Amino acid sequence: LKVRAGPYDEELIQTANKIASKGKGLLAMDESNATCGKRLDSIGLENTEDNRRTYRELLLSTPGLGEFISGAILFEETLYQSSSKNTSFVDLLNKQGIIPGIKVDKGLAPMPNSNGESWCQGLDGLAQRTAEYYKAGARFAKWRSVVSIPSGPSPMAIQDCAYGLARYAAIAQASGLVPIVEPEILLDGDHDIDRTLEVASETWAQTFKFLADQKVLFEGILLKPAMVTPGADSSKKESPETVAEYTLKMLKRVVPVAVPGIMFLSGGQSELEATLNLNAMNQSPNPWHVSFSYARALQNSVLKTWQGDSKNEQKAQEALLKRAKANSDAQKGQYDP
Ligand code: 13P
Repeated sequence: LKVRAGPYDEELIQTANKIASKGKGLLAMDESNATCGKRLDSIGLENTEDNRRTYRELLLSTPGLGEFISGAILFEETLYQSSSKNTSFVDLLNKQGIIPGIKVDKGLAPMPNSNGESWCQGLDGLAQRTAEYYKAGARFAKWRSVVSIPSGPSPMAIQDCAYGLARYAAIAQASGLVPIVEPEILLDGDHDIDRTLEVASETWAQTFKFLADQKVLFEGILLKPAMVTPGADSSKKESPETVAEYTLKMLKRVVPVAVPGIMFLSGGQSELEATLNLNAMNQSPNPWHVSFSYARALQNSVLKTWQGDSKNEQKAQEALLKRAKANSDAQKGQYDP
């Protein structure tokens, strides 16, 4: 078996470790145009390119954001956009010491012959796209595949999710982009926390089997797991301590310590819940940097505060900074509500 050595190995390790630095996490703002449209609609704004750009400029130009945020995940459209003062978003980020990242999957599509499940699109032509994104200034990537617990899930769907993530990760690393590996176990369903533990363990075990098969450099990836919680419709709620215990148990069973960072998604948790759960996970030392890569749990109150009105812009940026600092504190296990 030939030992792998890629041209970007050192840079990948550096980038991954910079993202996983103490007290820092990721701002996920890579909503597809359709999803961004839903967010804008919630405050009565039309889903136009200019409204999406204006909203994203508000996020990216928040003064002091770089103190808490090490990277921002962008949608392709955003990677090539500029501020109203004609500074490219990539430059705006780099000035704050925030590393630009890019969502590279092309979304989900129905998976034939499954339990009504989906698979993730975007492997065709991916190597060309990742090379272009690197040239445009991106240094890490994200690919989100999903597993649905109420759907079974079928062995075929778990295997496809894991295999697709591994192929993507190998391609991203070959272009110098640190791959964020995200098999999202959806929150939907009324199952208990033990069932989530079971499905998450199986999904991550398979993901690492395929990552190893594809010779992905573990020191140069980041993970984006869902926390291990009961289903959203379960009658039983669990405390942050229990969520932390289950989530860490699962990760310690299947994730090599060579991986530098675990950057959780918020998956529909409230802003406060997401912060409290992260804080609970950092009450004792972990083998990895355990942090956040939240979209909704960083942006919900920003949108509500902004309402599409430039007069509210500063207050909206303060709302973002408040959540970013809270999660930064939680990354250090020092959040005090
Ligand atoms: P949420 O934090 O809103 O779940 O989004 C994170 C994300 O990027 C999902 O891929």
